[in-house]
Amino acid sequence: MEAIDIRKKFLKFFEERGHTIVPSSSLIPDDPSVLLTTAGMQQFKKYYMGEADPYMTIHPLTAKPLGSKSAASAQKSFRTSDIDEVGDEGHLTFFEMLGNFSFGYKPGESSPKSGYFKKGAITYAFDFITKEMELSISYVTIFKGSDAVPKDEESRSVWNSLGVTDVREEGMEDVFWGPTGTSGPCGPTTEVYCKTVAGKDVEIWNIVFNEFFYPGSREELLSGSSGKKLESLKVAGVDTGMGFERLVMISQKKATIFDTDLFAPLLELLSSAVELRHKRIIVDHLRAMSFLIADGVRPSNKEAGYVLRRLMRRAFVYEHMYQIPPHVFDALVHDIVHEYGEFYPELLKHNDDIREEMKKEYDKFANTLKQGVKKLKEVKEDSITAESAFRLYESFGLPYEIIKELGGAKTASLTREAFDAEFKRHQEISRAGQEKKFGGHGLLLDTGELKAANEEELKKVTRLHTATHLLQAALRKVIGSEVHQDGSDITVERTRFDFTFPRKLTPEEIKQAENVVNEVIQKDMQMTHEEMSYEDALKSGALHFFKEKYPLRVSIYTVSDKKTGEVFSKEFCGGPHVTHTGEIGSFKIIKEEASSAGVRRIRAAVEDKK
Ligand code: ALA
Repeated sequence: MEAIDIRKKFLKFFEERGHTIVPSSSLIPDDPSVLLTTAGMQQFKKYYMGEADPYMTIHPLTAKPLGSKSAASAQKSFRTSDIDEVGDEGHLTFFEMLGNFSFGYKPGESSPKSGYFKKGAITYAFDFITKEMELSISYVTIFKGSDAVPKDEESRSVWNSLGVTDVREEGMEDVFWGPTGTSGPCGPTTEVYCKTVAGKDVEIWNIVFNEFFYPGSREELLSGSSGKKLESLKVAGVDTGMGFERLVMISQKKATIFDTDLFAPLLELLSSAVELRHKRIIVDHLRAMSFLIADGVRPSNKEAGYVLRRLMRRAFVYEHMYQIPPHVFDALVHDIVHEYGEFYPELLKHNDDIREEMKKEYDKFANTLKQGVKKLKEVKEDSITAESAFRLYESFGLPYEIIKELGGAKTASLTREAFDAEFKRHQEISRAGQEKKFGGHGLLLDTGELKAANEEELKKVTRLHTATHLLQAALRKVIGSEVHQDGSDITVERTRFDFTFPRKLTPEEIKQAENVVNEVIQKDMQMTHEEMSYEDALKSGALHFFKEKYPLRVSIYTVSDKKTGEVFSKEFCGGPHVTHTGEIGSFKIIKEEASSAGVRRIRAAVEDKK
């Protein structure tokens, strides 16, 4: 049976049993605490919580109430946790989840639309797998019980009554699902395992009994140390998720998901010179990026945009590495869009966007890719550390997986955790001007320009640093735009700023510049930070320091008025800075003098607000 027919069969099976078929929700979830949609139940969270009523609430995707306590869908899902595993036999980033759901079942009700709980859910799963698909179940799991939740004997007896006797007990980690995000419905599960032709048991269906609400994240729930407790939901629900690609694999009697008709024809478009693992990554990533772009995600350096960027760049790296001609990716995307377009029409609708975003990101990445790859080859260290890997990311936009891939043995000890930690550390430094450790100085911070020995000093030099940006902008306003930074040095006591200018400043000019800085401080303008290519930064008009050599990706700090959007200062800079100019306190120019021919020097200080 073809994959496309299996999807239809699933939905038809549940439609015939009183379920309302609901379209997949977007990969960008409503819930801001979740990066991307990871499961079919997410769009139904409110129904489980009793905040939405299947007969009253207008469902946003169908524009009418569900009209049944039972629903089913094929849901676009994305799990970032599996990115590093893609390429093996079983992992994907984007996948489809087939699910049936029941909300607010009351024992005793028995019309097809009245919902169901354990008996109903397990019976549907059994009938679909064994009768409809004519497959056999290898074994199932049930929840073995915990301090707060009893063993799931009911599920065991339902399975037994259907003739399934291999029922294995598992704990919280494996067979207790949820919550997604920062809180939500959750509960014990029973999982269905089937055998592949290769004789491997794979989990294909997870049936969750949403009996509880947990007021924290899954991590908190598992660690048990938060003190938060499971609460009973008013009415119990069912949430199931079946991995569509896996079901297709079992049904088509293939050893891996990549041998099914979902993937095999795509893999064939790639030349035999491309390593199998890389073929799988390319196809997974192109499929995932097409769906992400169609749902409105755009490549960027944060959140879902960063996930997309990593997928795109990794695919481009292989394209470059194997010199895959451009028409091959075109053909792959074409086939993906048309293969899935019938069921997910947004792909057809956004076909042009998909291609345009891919081209834009490719153009952005092409130069840096070549240089980054060269740089990576030149790295002399035997092992690339998280710090040096991060520098490659920052300067050349080479994401972790690419550094790992191209760095070969040199990256053996580099881990995703260490890289992410470095990434986070850097974000914190640039955002809030927090702690930054530099080896060998005994200093908390030493960027050459700024030095601080402890937290308190760090706060002070950070204020002085932002004040120095304001000073440069103020001087350019007062005495003209020929003013350019020639150097600067910041200690806890003062900032020293050198700039090109042919003559001594008058006392009025000094006072005016000081006043302009203090006005900006009073307006409490915001300091924002972004990263962009060197060229884009130049185009944006950001001031840069001519003596410095900049990497291809640069960091830009902008002081602007929150209300009017007016930009007061924009500079190439590595930070750290305050987030709002009000934090500076007040600003005072102490001295103006000659530094060298054509260069003036100003010393200035900041004080706490009185
Ligand atoms: N929500 C459950 C899962 O994603 C079904 O596994």
